Amino acid sequence: SRVVVVYGGSSAEREVSLKSGAAVLEALKRQKINAEGYDLRDKGLVGLEALAPSAIFVALHGRGGEDGTLQGALELLGIPYTGSGVMASALGMDKQRTKQVWQAIGLPTPESIMLTADADWAGVVATLGLPMMVKPVHEGSTLGISIVKSQEALEAAYREAAQFDARVMAERFVVGEEYTVALLDERVLPAIRVEVPGGFYDYEAKYVSNTTQYHLPCGLTAEEEAQLATLCQHAFAAIGCEGWGRVDVMRDANGQFWLLEVNTVPGMTDHSLVPQAAAYAGIEFDDLVVQILHSAGK
Ligand code: DAL
Ligand code: MG
Repeated sequence: SRVVVVYGGSSAEREVSLKSGAAVLEALKRQKINAEGYDLRDKGLVGLEALAPSAIFVALHGRGGEDGTLQGALELLGIPYTGSGVMASALGMDKQRTKQVWQAIGLPTPESIMLTADADWAGVVATLGLPMMVKPVHEGSTLGISIVKSQEALEAAYREAAQFDARVMAERFVVGEEYTVALLDERVLPAIRVEVPGGFYDYEAKYVSNTTQYHLPCGLTAEEEAQLATLCQHAFAAIGCEGWGRVDVMRDANGQFWLLEVNTVPGMTDHSLVPQAAAYAGIEFDDLVVQILHSAGK
């Protein structure tokens, strides 16, 4: 049997995926699992099928891999794979429709508006207030995202986001603390509070800077953390996610949690959050990888 770690690909998150995939592959090899890596950009699906994998560890981030497309192909090929299925992967990649599902069942998520080139900018500001977030709907790793502090800056932020995606949304900004919660099968891992000196947990803060602070324990009371864990379990289940994932959440000054998004293939780099939460729960990186692998095809 041979496990193939699929990584790389062609999305804007390619570089992050190469790192996640390399870390996963090394862990599998250390655990004496027959594994090899496969960059989807170089060799396409035909080469992947030719390897006759017994299971696939999906370490692709972004479109063309995390978004249900690879999952659909693997279903047709009959190859078991890690993480969420077709529907949850596609839905999780769409930040706006994810929010619509959460809103429909009464889970808290900040109000949002879809933007177009001829949007009523003043109306958007009147509805969402300032500052607000502007985001490409289908992007990861904070690419193309801005915090907008004035109506004048809104249109430029739209154009920046539109370089990444045909669909762009504006979202009410929640002033407060940022948390992230990893889910591993039925288990909710300890929450992490992310603090970026100077402000914004962007691509630089995620993968380059060493000043980002990851608070573990997160500083919530046991009761608050239990409430957050339950919220994230519901959020994960509502999207239909499976295996593993990570939910990003804000907490406002009143202690109210607001769901931002779900990541169906969270980063596994040495700066990434899920490995940190797992380690704090006593699950070393190699065990984490093996546990995720064992959830393939369940
Ligand atoms: N999209 C990045 C990889 C993450 O959520 O960790
Ligand atoms: Mg994301």
